[in-house]
Amino acid sequence: MRSTFTPLYLWVAFLAGGAYANSRNACPKHPQEAFRVGKAVYLQSNKEHNSIISIPIGQDGKLYGGMITTTGGMGGDGIDGATNKPAGPDALSSQGSVAYLFAVNAGSNTVSMFRIDEIDATHLWMVGKPAAIPGEFPVTVAVSVKRNVICVGYTGAKAGASCASFTPEGLGQMNQVLDFDLGQTTPPTGPTNTVAQVFFTANDTRLISTVKGDPNTNKTGFISVLAFKDSRSSAFESHDTRSSPSGTAVLFGGVNIPDTSDLFITDASFGATLLNLHATTDKVSLQQKVVIERQQATCWAAYSQARESVFVTDAAANRLIEISDDGSEIMSILDLENGDPGLIDLETSGRFVYALSPAMALHLPQSQWWILSKVDRFSISG
Ligand SMILES: *[C@@H]1O[C@H](CO)[C@@H](O)[C@H](O)[C@H]1NC(C)=O
Ligand SMILES: *[C@@H]1O[C@H](CO)[C@@H](O)[C@H](O)[C@H]1NC(C)=O
Repeated sequence: MRSTFTPLYLWVAFLAGGAYANSRNACPKHPQEAFRVGKAVYLQSNKEHNSIISIPIGQDGKLYGGMITTTGGMGGDGIDGATNKPAGPDALSSQGSVAYLFAVNAGSNTVSMFRIDEIDATHLWMVGKPAAIPGEFPVTVAVSVKRNVICVGYTGAKAGASCASFTPEGLGQMNQVLDFDLGQTTPPTGPTNTVAQVFFTANDTRLISTVKGDPNTNKTGFISVLAFKDSRSSAFESHDTRSSPSGTAVLFGGVNIPDTSDLFITDASFGATLLNLHATTDKVSLQQKVVIERQQATCWAAYSQARESVFVTDAAANRLIEISDDGSEIMSILDLENGDPGLIDLETSGRFVYALSPAMALHLPQSQWWILSKVDRFSISG
């Protein structure tokens, strides 16, 4: 396939992933309260002394104040293949570097675990010490609360994924479950030819990993599907199933649409895809190609339960795009006129969408940018 993908645009992207504390609201009294809003948004600074920034969500959905908690690990910078310089704000070139609440430390090959305070969700308590990962340059973490397992994807000279079980007391041993032969370095040169995201299917039966291809060197990206051994254990099968769905080139972030075998995954070279995960073979094939006009680098996707749709962001186009969860149509486009270069990692919560913007990052020394980068909030009608 001929690709019009320009890697140049990806480097204005992001440092941090968003995640949510589950709110413990009582049963909703009114239909419009049916979709619970989280209590806080969490990002990581990815600085040398890495930190989590937790920002409380007000009753009105707006973000107020914030707290900083160190992870005990180091952030890290990938290399931008177009300039051979540190990738700057798009340091990890991944989705989901912070989740429920685990954070990868790209520069020290560790993952930190936190407990979220029950009364004040911005207050984090580190559980134990950052755990060593048997791989290099971790960029993404997936959490299965049902199975008490986390998996971390890494994309340096030793690329792959490792998983560990966890209890409230901390993480068990991280064991490698996937090995990706990407021929990368540490730090990796990207954003193409790197791991984009690891996530679990909505029913917690499989680990999905997306690995970006590189159209410039005809390197094909793929999706890896790794099944758990049975319905209860935290052990995986010994082999994954890899597919390169035809017509895709730079598969990036995604999500399994709940109660379906559909994977909604962005492709930075044209927009997004709806892929089918075959129930018995674990092969992944293309169902719908969602070509987004004037897109530059559509990389991040988040499912909205309230709208039964998926929101996607583009690192170099300052707008939020909503696509139906069967990939058949673009439902809405919200053009922003706030001067941001684009939007990167995002999360939905109740009737709100929170998206991170690299904002003024381009004009500031890197050590300062994250303080000024901001999370934009959008209200969606449900
Ligand atoms: C990639 O494939 C195209 C079409 O087959 C070919 O023209 C081009 O030379 C290849 N590029 C590299 C770097 O191998
Ligand atoms: C879990 O979800 C996957 C992917 O959608 C599907 O293929 C599988 O059949 C489901 N398994 C169970 C036990 O529901």
